[in-house]
Amino acid sequence: MLLRSFIHHKFLVCTILSVISLRNAAAQHEGEPYAMRISCGAPKDVTTKPTNTLWKKDFGYTGGKQANATIPSFIEPQLKTLRYFPLSDGPENCYDITDIPRGHYEVRLFFALIADPNFDNEPMFDISIEGTQIHSLKSGWSNNDEQSFVEALVFVTNASFTACFHSTGHGDPSILSIEILQVDDTAYYSGPLWGKGTVLRTAKRLTCGTGKSAFDEDYGGSHWGGDRFWLAISYFQDSGHSISTEHSISMTSISPNFYPEKLYQSAIVGSDLQPDLSFEMEVEPNRNYSVWLHFSEIDPRITGEGERTFDISLNGDIAFENINIIGMTGGSNAALVLNTTVEVSGKALTIVLRGTNGSHAIINAIEVFEVISVESKTSADDVGTLQILKSSLGLPRRLGWNGDPCVPQQHPWSGVDCQFDSKSGNWVIDGLGLDNQGLKGFLPNDIAKLQHLQSINFSENNLYGAIPSSLGTIAGLQTLDLSYNQLNGSIPESLGQLTLLQILNLNGNLLSGRVPASLGGLPLHRASFNFTGNAGLCGIPGLPSCGPRLSVAAKIGIAFGASFVFLLAVVAALIWWKRRENILRAQRIAAAREAPYAKARTHFARDVQMTKHHRPRDQVRSHTLIMDPT
Ligand SMILES: *[C@@H]1O[C@H](CO)[C@@H](O)[C@H](O)[C@H]1NC(C)=O
Ligand SMILES: *[C@@H]1O[C@H](CO)[C@@H](O)[C@H](O)[C@H]1NC(C)=O
Ligand SMILES: *[C@@H]1O[C@H](CO)[C@@H](O)[C@H](O)[C@H]1NC(C)=O
Ligand SMILES: *[C@@H]1O[C@H](CO)[C@@H](O)[C@H](O)[C@H]1NC(C)=O
Ligand SMILES: *[C@@H]1O[C@H](CO)[C@@H](O)[C@H](O)[C@H]1NC(C)=O
Ligand SMILES: *[C@@H]1O[C@H](CO)[C@@H](O)[C@H](O)[C@H]1NC(C)=O
Ligand SMILES: *[C@@H]1O[C@H](CO)[C@@H](O)[C@H](O)[C@H]1NC(C)=O
Ligand SMILES: *[C@@H]1O[C@H](CO)[C@@H](O)[C@H](O)[C@H]1NC(C)=O
Repeated sequence: MLLRSFIHHKFLVCTILSVISLRNAAAQHEGEPYAMRISCGAPKDVTTKPTNTLWKKDFGYTGGKQANATIPSFIEPQLKTLRYFPLSDGPENCYDITDIPRGHYEVRLFFALIADPNFDNEPMFDISIEGTQIHSLKSGWSNNDEQSFVEALVFVTNASFTACFHSTGHGDPSILSIEILQVDDTAYYSGPLWGKGTVLRTAKRLTCGTGKSAFDEDYGGSHWGGDRFWLAISYFQDSGHSISTEHSISMTSISPNFYPEKLYQSAIVGSDLQPDLSFEMEVEPNRNYSVWLHFSEIDPRITGEGERTFDISLNGDIAFENINIIGMTGGSNAALVLNTTVEVSGKALTIVLRGTNGSHAIINAIEVFEVISVESKTSADDVGTLQILKSSLGLPRRLGWNGDPCVPQQHPWSGVDCQFDSKSGNWVIDGLGLDNQGLKGFLPNDIAKLQHLQSINFSENNLYGAIPSSLGTIAGLQTLDLSYNQLNGSIPESLGQLTLLQILNLNGNLLSGRVPASLGGLPLHRASFNFTGNAGLCGIPGLPSCGPRLSVAAKIGIAFGASFVFLLAVVAALIWWKRRENILRAQRIAAAREAPYAKARTHFARDVQMTKHHRPRDQVRSHTLIMDPT
């Protein structure tokens, strides 16, 4: 009696709680969650059956090509096209989706194979979201249903979302679809490790028992659940059998995770012969995993608290002791969700449910997430400057330069060296090594916005134009190698301010003018420089001298003198030209009249007279011209 009233009481509390959380959920989630689905490579919007899901036509990609798709797994949405990224488009390519409302999202990317009889390569590549690498496709993924997609829970904090695909030299990344589905802000809250600093990648999601593999959508689940995919499993390696119920289950579809009721209507249970349940999965070693276990007491023979008790251990360590579902939920046919985080050093994660006091273990569903620490990003200013450089330098397409320059750390942009700046908590650029890369462009002034640069090597390219004087403001610059380009103009004075400069190679360019005196002193600091192979440079030992130095007054004097001489020369030339014109004209006239003397150059005075006579207007003009200088 006491026990019953206790159970009753607990049940009431739970019911009230669940009503409250349902209310909260309703208040928090008026309307539909945000959803963006992209059918990669599709020229127009697509809807798929049976749920009439809308997929936007392809957009937001940084490169790649469209192709027809071969779908490797029954799990994948029935889409017909994909986008693939040949290496000639660069080693990293991305989808940059903007105007995503801030929030918490389940992101899912499906992969596919190019439909082409001559194309049987299974590509292997890495995937990053917002600069954090979340997955590395393994050989054989296209023969494994669960591996034909990657899914993760991420926070979008800046209205934009970037997913990148990184070539690893094993074929062209090929993407079937991208889904960005909003979930509850506190979905899968698991304790202190949880939050904006982590991404949860789905490593396993199973529905246990008689249920069919399905999406939340197929189960009639809430859209706030993120349309998870539940792979059906009806027994474990050597243990367990399926049971199911038609009873409705309480405490389902509630905030924050909105699990569909269907999950709790089937289960795997132990038997007399094998009361324990044991599930083992392969994992990446040395990671933390967030484990979510789902229960409901659906066996009609178990009605009392304590009739089924079991312990749960993860890789041998007890994670939950004395679980008794009815005691914890207040009755049969009510959902119970347990979560814990476990650090795994080996390659396997084993979940064992061990019946105690002779009872059999039970489980309804299992979710395992890899907890991935979010990478710090590259300083937004530096990223902006690199984008300017990308176009100014005429960076070849094969270098890519998409996504974040420094992260994921496994895939930085080629030719870019990064350093972590603990003061700002961002990555910054400290080196540019783009020597011999076929650059065809100019050095923009903005390059100096990369204030952390220590080394620049643009040697052996086709850079033209001037050396920007702004380079002199990069205080930490130690190496500046611009040799073997077509840079012209003079060497900026400002380079003399670079007190840490150790190597300055400007040889093999079209530079001219005086080498700044300040640079001449650099070798004293053990710096090495090379100015040779520039026809027009002068002024330091080893180069031609620039001629005498002149005072400002002298320079002005020379300038004046030069202008005067120039003016004289112009006038003289004009006189000579006009006279010659007149002579030629007179000769023509004379020739026409067959005058015997008209050909002689020395008789120009008479020619002019003759001309005067016949063409009065010309005469005035030529007269003025002749008279002026005298
Ligand atoms: C894709 O398949 C369609 C026919 O289903 C064909 O018309 C089209 O040319 C194919 N596209 C490519 C890029 O192979
Ligand atoms: C957010 O995005 C804007 C442009 O979309 C950018 O200017 C800004 O730096 C970003 N902020 C952060 C913290 O990434
Ligand atoms: C997961 O477990 C922690 C305690 O380990 C708990 O604080 C948290 O509320 C649980 N999350 C959910 C969504 O139930
Ligand atoms: C796992 O999480 C703990 C904090 O709970 C942390 O100290 C540890 O470094 C993490 N392990 C890995 C491999 O990330
Ligand atoms: C197991 O049964 C014993 C006696 O029947 C009882 O004292 C004990 O509390 C039970 N343990 C659990 C975990 O229910
Ligand atoms: C710059 O690159 C060129 C060409 O690869 C190389 O020969 C040279 O040593 C590099 N300069 C410096 C200072 O390392
Ligand atoms: C440098 O070369 C560019 C063309 O590449 C030309 O427009 C510019 O006038 C040249 N400057 C000097 C100082 O010769
Ligand atoms: C300077 O550059 C020239 C070619 O322009 C090269 O022959 C010479 O060896 C270089 N000098 C030094 C000290 O590197």
